Amino acid sequence: MILKLPDGRRSSILIGENIENLSNYLNSEKVFILTNPNISDLYSDIFPKKTTVITIPGGEKNKNLNTVLETIRQLIAAGADRKSVIVGFGGGIVCDMTGFIASIYMRGVKFGFVATSLMAQVDASVGGKNGVNCDGYKNMIGVFNQPDFVVCDPKTLKTLPERELKAGIAEVIKCGLIANNNLFSFIENNIDAILNCEEDKIYTVVNESVEIKARIVEADEKESGERKKLNLGHTFGHAVEKHSNNILHGEAVSIGLVIAAKISEQLNLITNEDFRRIQNVLKKTGLPVTTDISSANLLEAIGKDKKRENDFVHFVLNRGIGSSEIREISFDKLATLLEKALNAL
Ligand SMILES: NC(=O)c1ccc[n+]([C@@H]2O[C@H](COP(=O)([O-])OP(=O)(O)OC[C@H]3O[C@@H](n4cnc5c(N)ncnc54)[C@H](O)[C@@H]3O)[C@@H](O)[C@H]2O)c1
Ligand SMILES: [Zn+2]
Repeated sequence: MILKLPDGRRSSILIGENIENLSNYLNSEKVFILTNPNISDLYSDIFPKKTTVITIPGGEKNKNLNTVLETIRQLIAAGADRKSVIVGFGGGIVCDMTGFIASIYMRGVKFGFVATSLMAQVDASVGGKNGVNCDGYKNMIGVFNQPDFVVCDPKTLKTLPERELKAGIAEVIKCGLIANNNLFSFIENNIDAILNCEEDKIYTVVNESVEIKARIVEADEKESGERKKLNLGHTFGHAVEKHSNNILHGEAVSIGLVIAAKISEQLNLITNEDFRRIQNVLKKTGLPVTTDISSANLLEAIGKDKKRENDFVHFVLNRGIGSSEIREISFDKLATLLEKALNAL
């Protein structure tokens, strides 16, 4: 699949590609693989020969400018130059950091990703958002810049911890809800096979999700309108994340999707039956669907959310299953809707 921007930039997204063919996409003498120790232990045997491997520490707490600086020092020491290609080989954290480092190293070198988590395959590797956290605030420093290529090999998900796989499925369900009723039904009907990482089922969910994201990014790369739809479930998802310890992003998004669906039902945009389907598919995946965080705490967290502009929130609502809309909702109205939604869960 090719992601084509209106100004001619292109990104090749190779879904179902065998990671062992990675060297076919590396047209440079000097290739640098950025990865983390976990992934390196599992996959170093298939890193192409004659590449320099740099490991960066994993975890959100290391996704910061100190790690960027340390990695840049290693690139300099290893002789990376403007003709080098940098490949991020790992989950979303590796991809976000690699894209950022490659965008600023010597004013920008070519880069690509081998996305090894479901979250990276369906979300982080596609769309050109790259960056790091600052003082606990997520993704505050970064750039928009598209990778040359993204390789998504379904078999890498077989080594992914199950909890991480489930967290990635939350984003797939989100994609189905935003734009593709058939993808949503496919997940309902095949959840066990997906959780077992059956390769043809994984191929379908990744392919359909990336298709949705790529088309949205083509229309609105910098998130001035349509791309905001990808934030379905994220307004309250981020709020849940801020008030929880040890919750994964996808798990928080799952709770955010249920809240958004309940609010959509209250606004008569979806039926109660649709709401139940959404809640059930998340439950069947093994994702959380309720929270005991108070509405006051969730609203307080949204107050600092980047998506709040003045006194309005751009809130993404379901419109049936497989369709969505962005509404400007006043902060006060949202507070009332949230209170009512939490009471109904
Ligand atoms: N740029 C974007 O548009 C975008 C979109 C979504 C998420 N993100 C970012 O992505 C990050 C989350 O990504 P993630 O969920 O992949 O987390 P992650 O990168 O931390 O990976 C999750 C865990 O799984 C391990 N792992 C990854 N692939 C594996 C494999 N094949 N086998 C075994 N273990 C494997 C990792 O080492 C890590 O421990 C966040 O920082 C988030 O901000 C960015
Ligand atoms: Zn997300």
